[in-house]
Amino acid sequence: MRMAGKTVLVTGGNSGIGFAAAKRLSEEGATVVITGRNEATLSESKAALGESAFAFRLDATDFVGLESGLASIVRDVGNFDAVFLNAGDASLTPVGGTTVEQFDHLIATNLKSPFFYVQALLPHLRNNASIVLNSSIGNAIGMPGMAAYAASKAGLIGMARCIASELSGRAIRVNVVSPGNIRTPFWRTVADAALIPAVHEFATRSVPLGRLGEAEGVAEVVLFLCSSESSYVQATELYVDGGVTGAMMGAPAYRQG
Ligand SMILES: NC(=O)c1ccc[n+]([C@@H]2O[C@H](COP(=O)([O-])OP(=O)(O)OC[C@H]3O[C@@H](n4cnc5c(N)ncnc54)[C@H](OP(=O)(O)O)[C@@H]3O)[C@@H](O)[C@H]2O)c1
Repeated sequence: MRMAGKTVLVTGGNSGIGFAAAKRLSEEGATVVITGRNEATLSESKAALGESAFAFRLDATDFVGLESGLASIVRDVGNFDAVFLNAGDASLTPVGGTTVEQFDHLIATNLKSPFFYVQALLPHLRNNASIVLNSSIGNAIGMPGMAAYAASKAGLIGMARCIASELSGRAIRVNVVSPGNIRTPFWRTVADAALIPAVHEFATRSVPLGRLGEAEGVAEVVLFLCSSESSYVQATELYVDGGVTGAMMGAPAYRQG
């Protein structure tokens, strides 16, 4: 058991990548705390994770209730050995058609929230803890209509390096996982449900390994970054994208024949 005796917080642990990570961490012996907004999926996920899991309704953008919310969780479960700050949102924000509120919402959810979570968690993190931030290939690849999302996810990279430099004295590690095209409900944030199969097919053609990723594949990398197996990995970014960012020209869309 790679996480026996460890306690891990997973934000957005009631869906997609967050749920898969919570499940994998739990299978490896961790006590897992999941947060999210949707009461129904929170309780379904808690039931699926089993006896040792906890679920709390916490909006990642409620900065006023953050410290008291986390303190009350810690009263129930104790301090954390690892934290996966995964909750995130997306929407199309094309230049020429985006409101200040839409832009601010993505920055608040995807960038500001992880910073203030780390700050609020500081007294509740054990020395040697691992913090994993969830970015995206959107931090490296220009995609039409995704400027605010890309800015939020690219911001996480610089932020992670700074926080890692600040927390290294406590041997707290801060790393980033950057998923590519992963099959989760997330796609509904940028495309109508009826268009999802076509979007998946189109996206698959841009992946050198020729398939969409699964949440379970990202979860394995999160488990690695949370566990002591990555104890000398600090301030780095790990792409889980089938080669999209590093080997784009190998994708089916560019191959001959
Ligand atoms: N799927 C992909 O292709 C992909 C690629 C790159 C990066 N990512 C990143 O992966 C992360 C997880 O996405 P996913 O693919 O697993 O999608 P998902 O299944 O839609 O999960 C999104 C999660 O974020 C939570 N969340 C969103 N806004 C929140 C808020 N204000 N407060 C609390 N929780 C909030 C949701 O909880 P509620 O439902 O309760 O609101 C949900 O659990 C995101 O950060 C996303 O940017 C995904």
